[in-house]
Amino acid sequence: MAPIIQIKNLRKSFGDRVLYEDLTIDLVPGETLVVMGGSGSGKSTLLRILMGHLTYDGGNVLVHTHELSQFSRRELNAWRLSVGVLFQTGALFNSMTLRENLALPVREHTDLPEELIDIMIKIYLQLVGLRDSIDRMPSELSGGMKKRGGLARALMMQPRILFYDEPTAGLDPVSSAQVAQLILDLKEKMNVTSVVITHDMKAAFAVADRLALLAERRFHMVGRPEEFRTTTDPLVRQFVDGLLDGPLSAKADQKAYEADLLKRETL
Ligand SMILES: Nc1ncnc2c1ncn2[C@@H]1O[C@H](COP(=O)(O)OP(=O)(O)OP(=O)(O)O)[C@@H](O)[C@H]1O
Ligand SMILES: [Mg+2]
Repeated sequence: MAPIIQIKNLRKSFGDRVLYEDLTIDLVPGETLVVMGGSGSGKSTLLRILMGHLTYDGGNVLVHTHELSQFSRRELNAWRLSVGVLFQTGALFNSMTLRENLALPVREHTDLPEELIDIMIKIYLQLVGLRDSIDRMPSELSGGMKKRGGLARALMMQPRILFYDEPTAGLDPVSSAQVAQLILDLKEKMNVTSVVITHDMKAAFAVADRLALLAERRFHMVGRPEEFRTTTDPLVRQFVDGLLDGPLSAKADQKAYEADLLKRETL
């Protein structure tokens, strides 16, 4: 099947900080692609580029074979509406109940009658296990409940594609497993295509059809969970196994050492 998104040789810098030199990957219909990478490697930035919130410096981002940067305002809006996004922070509006939070995007973008919106709210809250919290404010929910509430809100627009940015960050192991199970359920029951950004190796291996490791300004490795489990590539092993020593820390040490030397020379 034709890919939904094709990223080819993507380049992006912020000032003189080069984030991607040559990023290449496809998103295939029905798959769950997990994107991993160190803090600051540019994972959230990639989602912002894919949503058309940020421009890129070079290469191609093709959405259904059309260059994203050439989209008209109308095409961009249609694309954004077809994607459900679970942002890394602040998924819910704090001044509204869960019910109001879920109703908002549907009221804004569709003409569906209130009765139907209300039924949808109940269905999606049931799906994420928050049916009893429908009239609670976000401040009355735990971190995990907020994440699940954000997911329910993203689902209200019945997206075919879901982007999750750190869906399990800050959650206890049981809540993380529940969110991972939800991601699996959505794939199986609703056939959604997903990009999941996560540091959480357990969740990553639980939900992924394919994994991609962002390191050194490109996708250092893309492959099936089995390939990530068995590869002897030192950088992948260090990241996946959470090892103290390896290419990632060697680089960091080297930089710190150089900075230290430079400082001494200028004294
Ligand atoms: N709008 C911006 N202007 C300038 N620099 C930015 C901007 N957005 C992100 N950056 C920088 O780009 C780098 C990547 O940021 P990004 O948020 O994509 O990282 P990340 O991989 O999601 O990290 P984390 O795992 O901590 O969430 C960081 O160094 C960040 O400071
Ligand atoms: Mg991020």
